[in-house]
Amino acid sequence: MHKNIGTIQSEAIEQIHKACTMPELDTIELSLFGRKHGMLSEILKGLKDLDVAARKVQGELANDAKGAIQSELDERRAELIEQETGGDIDVTECLIPPLPRGTLHPITLISDELEDMFSGMGFRVYDGPEIETEYYNFEALNIGVDHPARDMQDTFYIKDLPGRLMRTHTSSSQVRAMREFGAPLAVIVPGRCFRNEATDARHEHTFFQLEGFVVGSDISFAHLKGILEATARHLYGSDTQVRLRPKYYPFVEPGVNGEVTCLLCRGSGCRLCKSTGFLEIFGAGRIHPHVLREGGLDPKKWSGLAFGFGLTRLAMLKYGIDDVRLFESGDLAFLKQF
Ligand code: DAH
Repeated sequence: MHKNIGTIQSEAIEQIHKACTMPELDTIELSLFGRKHGMLSEILKGLKDLDVAARKVQGELANDAKGAIQSELDERRAELIEQETGGDIDVTECLIPPLPRGTLHPITLISDELEDMFSGMGFRVYDGPEIETEYYNFEALNIGVDHPARDMQDTFYIKDLPGRLMRTHTSSSQVRAMREFGAPLAVIVPGRCFRNEATDARHEHTFFQLEGFVVGSDISFAHLKGILEATARHLYGSDTQVRLRPKYYPFVEPGVNGEVTCLLCRGSGCRLCKSTGFLEIFGAGRIHPHVLREGGLDPKKWSGLAFGFGLTRLAMLKYGIDDVRLFESGDLAFLKQF
């Protein structure tokens, strides 16, 4: 019996060293310690039939062998794991192959980036309706029924909903937000807009804008320029200049056209900027008293600034996209690049 335990131990250790896989080690373990017919289990079970002195000796030998074999098994298992993983075990590893992932639309990417930036400056993000009333889209913004701006912003009217149209700009949320939140307030409205356009590489019936406005007790052009410069520098780099030139928009007074240093030639003049060194990217101005009044705010007490970007245009410039129709095309070859 003494020899037996010794032989079992040395043979087991030899087998353990030779084993190259986990299942092999499991089989060896079972053959020794399995409850039914495990070689060492059988010996331990037989101890009860021996006399006291023999039971003590055999018991000690069997237990020592069990401990030694168990630690060899543990060691060999650790070695195999190390060989397989190069030493590190990634407990978070997922063995189910991952599902193919989609990508975010370029407009979503640029909109998310600007939402982050404006939130950091204290603006709240407002989500106005795409089907809008004529009032919020035009009248509230000082664009009366006969105003020529209605022609420039022709859109789709909803047959079954008189007085409703697909909004032509995100400026339509200005008066909504003023009525909802009162003043002071700082809001951005990123969103989809629509116009009745003959489409080509530069025109599309569906596009995205980001409107921003601030109402406070002493809002000046300096605030407007500061916000626009921070935005332009965030988007196009810290050496970007902003140039404001007078332009008429019915809902701001005075109104400006905002231009930034051309991102291609950095100001020296090229085809993209038509040799001017600047690119036109936004409209802006001080909020017209009519608009404040429509928003329920007294223009003697409150002043405001507003600006609007074409998000679609920003994305075209940022990613070098030369055909606006790609954005709404659902073309996967295009979308997968982002
Ligand atoms: N809503 C104008 C457009 O769609 C853009 C715009 C111009 C927004 C001037 C403004 C602004 O807030 O002050 O063309």
